[in-house]
Amino acid sequence: MYKIKYIRNGVFLSINNIKLDIEYIRSQFPAFKDPTCKDWSFFENAGGSYVPQTVIDKLNKFMISTKVQPYADYPMSKIAGNQMDESTKLFAEMINAKNNEILIGGSTSINLYVLSNALKSFISPGDEIIVTNQDHEANISPWRRLSESGAKIVEWKMNKKTAELEIEEFEKLLTNKTKIVAVTHCSNIVGSVNNLKKISELSHKKGAIVIGDGVSFAPHGFPNVKNLDVDFYTFSLYKTYGPHLALLYGKEKILKQLPNQNHEFLSGQYPYTINPGGPNHEELVSLSGIYDYILSIYNYHFGNDELSILEKIEKVNQLITSHEEEIANPILDYISCRDDLILIGKNKINNKDRAPTIAFYSKKMSSKSLSELLVKNKIATRNDNFYAWRCLNALGLDPNDGVVRLSMTHYNSIEDTKNLLNALKSI
Ligand SMILES: Cc1ncc(COP(=O)(O)O)c(C=O)c1O
Repeated sequence: MYKIKYIRNGVFLSINNIKLDIEYIRSQFPAFKDPTCKDWSFFENAGGSYVPQTVIDKLNKFMISTKVQPYADYPMSKIAGNQMDESTKLFAEMINAKNNEILIGGSTSINLYVLSNALKSFISPGDEIIVTNQDHEANISPWRRLSESGAKIVEWKMNKKTAELEIEEFEKLLTNKTKIVAVTHCSNIVGSVNNLKKISELSHKKGAIVIGDGVSFAPHGFPNVKNLDVDFYTFSLYKTYGPHLALLYGKEKILKQLPNQNHEFLSGQYPYTINPGGPNHEELVSLSGIYDYILSIYNYHFGNDELSILEKIEKVNQLITSHEEEIANPILDYISCRDDLILIGKNKINNKDRAPTIAFYSKKMSSKSLSELLVKNKIATRNDNFYAWRCLNALGLDPNDGVVRLSMTHYNSIEDTKNLLNALKSI
């Protein structure tokens, strides 16, 4: 199919054996040259990622020349408005949504609370809502709260031994009364990728709405929301190489039916009806820098061609996945072989069935002590429950001491892996 060969660093590469050029990737992120950050191996990406220069440039430029109220007729204002619309349009393209299906809010937690308040009007006493005990609390509490409107809350529990959510268990919980299913695409503790496409298919047969939490999934490759067929999908842009904002996607046909939670005269103007107020303008504009960065990865590795943006994203995702497997699997393997360390979740990433988000604890010391020792070795990590406290409780762990989490992303290098393994070996 792809016969063309590219030359990189003087070496011919067929398209099938192109690997992520980690030097190129890291050169896009000023943090790796910054005196405060440069000597550290950064393993806290599931908490929030570094940003590429493209994002910083967009933010700076906006603050210098277009930091005015947008959408008026004078040039600075026109440009500001156009840039805001452009960011939304580009993100819609990247995840295969329409412009009016995208809402940018302050955080995923805010987006989900605002959404659950809107969906309240869909709930009648006796309706059922399925939540899991694997999710971050942001995709549990807003839905549990709908019990105040008469909803019965049903919990899809993980298998205690494997920490996995099993589809067979989910099928047993689905009924004709199920109205909402809230489930994470990828757990921020277990790391497992849940089959959201299958969950959507099964839920839709019962007429239920599916809310997918993509916060721990999206940093490892933007999803195609139409392909997943979820009704709502959310992720935090500050973990996908952007500023502190979050994206909420919703299917147009449902957004149209939601009540207006914004000013009265905006009635009918979805998706602006969902959020009482708009996003931070300069940060919204800087989001187009994420698009530029992802496209630059494509162009650098494959060259410019006629592929659609979704096809390019797919190719970049494949590069990222192979790289992440290469840097994370040795860590998963090492931890799972140590008698004193207990790994949560699968001990190998296979075909993107797991994110490189690695949570573990020690039989010999607290997670706090373990993380302190790693930090002394210049491994940026921490211990916590990471707001997945139901998950930790269900696994019989103390949510105060929590687990140590090593969360990697595509800009981590094999040197980071070696540094971490050396640090662990000394403990
Ligand atoms: C899986 C998951 N869902 C939701 C959230 C909440 O995101 P936010 O901080 O944007 O509210 C987080 C945050 O860490 C998370 O890891």
